Amino acid sequence: MSQLIIENLVKNYGQKPVVNQLNITVESGEMLSLLGPSGCGKTTTLRMIAGMHDPTSGSIRLDGKELTRIAPHKRNIGLVFQNYALFPHLNVFENVAFGLKRHGVPKSEIRERVEAALHSVRLNEFAERFPAQMSGGQQQRVALARTLVLKPPLVLFDEPLSNLDAKLRQALGIEIRVLQRKFGFTGIFVTHDQEEAMVISDRIAVMNGGNIVQIGTPQQIYMHPVDPFVADFVGESNLYPITNVTASEGFWRFELSKGNIISAEKTGNGSAPTYVMVRPEAVSVRRKGVDDQPVPEAGFNAVAGEVTFINYSGSSYLIGVAIESLDEQFIVRLQNTRKELDLRVGEEAVVQWPVHDTLTF
Ligand SMILES: Nc1ncnc2c1ncn2[C@@H]1O[C@H](COP(=O)(O)OP(=O)(O)OP(=O)(O)O)[C@@H](O)[C@H]1O
Ligand SMILES: [Mg+2]
Repeated sequence: MSQLIIENLVKNYGQKPVVNQLNITVESGEMLSLLGPSGCGKTTTLRMIAGMHDPTSGSIRLDGKELTRIAPHKRNIGLVFQNYALFPHLNVFENVAFGLKRHGVPKSEIRERVEAALHSVRLNEFAERFPAQMSGGQQQRVALARTLVLKPPLVLFDEPLSNLDAKLRQALGIEIRVLQRKFGFTGIFVTHDQEEAMVISDRIAVMNGGNIVQIGTPQQIYMHPVDPFVADFVGESNLYPITNVTASEGFWRFELSKGNIISAEKTGNGSAPTYVMVRPEAVSVRRKGVDDQPVPEAGFNAVAGEVTFINYSGSSYLIGVAIESLDEQFIVRLQNTRKELDLRVGEEAVVQWPVHDTLTF
């Protein structure tokens, strides 16, 4: 187990920083995800840790040792990338044994360790197979075994699941998490898939434009995003600019859309917010009666609109409600309660959600 400390890490290409004064501490045995849109600097950061790129400035220390002064092959860091990069002419056993052989490990120990590694990824039956005879998911598990057999204190993952289909991604994501706990390595997991980041990590660092915007547990990031970018990037959100903000005891009141005044609890530094956000699962929706003005119950916000779509996904319904003068429709996620949904596309409806779940930025 090992602690990684990154301080003021910078990588410039030309004049442009693609990684900009990055500071992260990854605790011993922790799995940290770097999550962010394409081009935000995730791979560049990982490559500097692995030694494939030299930083422009800054320091990377693993258990107190400055990594940037150590040659890449001597850093003892495990790498698992998107393309499995197995040797096609070697069978599974030989692929996993390759690194150990190079390190001059005795033959009997190699056999023992390779068998244990293959067992841990449930591939002991596949030792004689060649990569071309295996599925993508199986090949990626060989790549995992090949890395873990060397018992690296730090393992870097760069979108290792992105070539796999949705179900397999989820399964292998969970498997990586189990292996991480079992082997106890410190891990950094790069992804632009927020669900993957949530499932796999102890903490998530959300990156944008070479900077870390927020770092925290999946719950902190999802429940308390620090700005509209994080709110929008992580999870589904109803996110809108707001106007006419006024303050009262402990609350903001503001206009969400033409004539629709709603409230939010005051948080943060006290300066007037410019955006409001509510998660789709915090919202309920009901058919609007003839005289049913959207007067909210105490502690709720309510707005009327027209139902534009109802998508059924088994466990839940995703419902769109167009609200006058709002550019983007409101999204509601309802748990499937096995009761018939009393709502049709084209009907007038009222969406309602707790003031407590109304976040502002
Ligand atoms: N060798 C290079 N020369 C110039 N610019 C580069 C070089 N390598 C990367 N970049 C730029 O640096 C930025 C960050 O790239 P990086 O590969 O780290 O992004 P990423 O977050 O991993 O994105 P993705 O999710 O698409 O993999 C990009 O704008 C990219 O174009
Ligand atoms: Mg990348």
